[in-house]
Amino acid sequence: MATPRNVLQTPENPPPGAHHRVLVWDLPTRLFHWVLVGLVALAVVTGKVGGIYMTYHLWGGFAILVLVLFRVLWGLVGGRHARFRDFVKGPRAVMADATNLFRRDAQRHLGHNPLGGWSILALLLVLLIQAGTGLFANDDILTEGPLAVQVSKTASDALTRVHRLNQQALLALVAIHVAAVFFYLAVKRDNLIMPMITGRKHWPERIAPAGGHPLLALVLLLVVAVMLYLLVFYLFPPSPSG
Ligand code: HEM
Ligand code: HEM
Repeated sequence: MATPRNVLQTPENPPPGAHHRVLVWDLPTRLFHWVLVGLVALAVVTGKVGGIYMTYHLWGGFAILVLVLFRVLWGLVGGRHARFRDFVKGPRAVMADATNLFRRDAQRHLGHNPLGGWSILALLLVLLIQAGTGLFANDDILTEGPLAVQVSKTASDALTRVHRLNQQALLALVAIHVAAVFFYLAVKRDNLIMPMITGRKHWPERIAPAGGHPLLALVLLLVVAVMLYLLVFYLFPPSPSG
């Protein structure tokens, strides 16, 4: 596929030769991203502040778990560029991407680039670990995850330590992620942020849109939310004191 060189990608100033606005990120993927950003910010702040804000922490964290599980399913049945098989590439592609990292004329990618693809997988994995361990965590005072009563205090304490440690991994990955996005903007003159808002990228060829159906996304999201809620609160109900 032909790729434009020296790209400066803004809506007012498309890269030379990139005459078409091609749909890259379908609505469910964009909504997933920006709602996730808001909820992770909420979970970090409320987790740190603690106290009465822990109620928001537990519900916000639960919503993150639902979103990430939805994203895993969307990676299998969602739009073309949301699918794992579109952006999870082997070591050869990743090495080529890494080697050309500082070149402005390096090949652009319509979806996630090969290096970025692995960082997205890593982000999803640490988010799963963070929200999953949160379900079993306790703060030794007032708050505990809804499944903490299902395991021994020793196990809950161990998972709380993982919850605290993994928080550092999550923050580090988010910092790298945001730095990479601004690196692309400032150094490579490639604006990745606008496509995550509008869904579209300037591209030299017309490419038929291949976004996933929003209704399918809504059904998947609801199914995940209801199943997780039933699993956590009905199959393993918290004790009356919890
Ligand atoms: C809590 C903070 C954040 C988290 C957890 C996060 C997570 C993610 C995830 C999981 C994706 C993959 C999207 C998908 O394929 O479904 C993604 C992509 C992306 N994010 Fe974030 N993000 C965060 C903050 C931000 C911020 C603050 C910005 C903008 C400044 C941003 C810009 C982007 C862009 C542009 C992409 C697409 C990258 C590409 O073109 O390959 N993210 N992010
Ligand atoms: C990605 C989602 C989540 C993030 C980013 C997050 C982040 C945090 C942070 C920053 C803390 C404070 C830890 C410290 O003192 O340094 C915390 C504590 C806690 N979180 Fe989460 N959390 C998430 C999901 C959850 C979920 C889903 C639950 C349960 C439903 C949960 C339950 C707890 C509990 C019980 C504590 C108190 C444990 C302690 O004192 O360390 N969290 N979380």
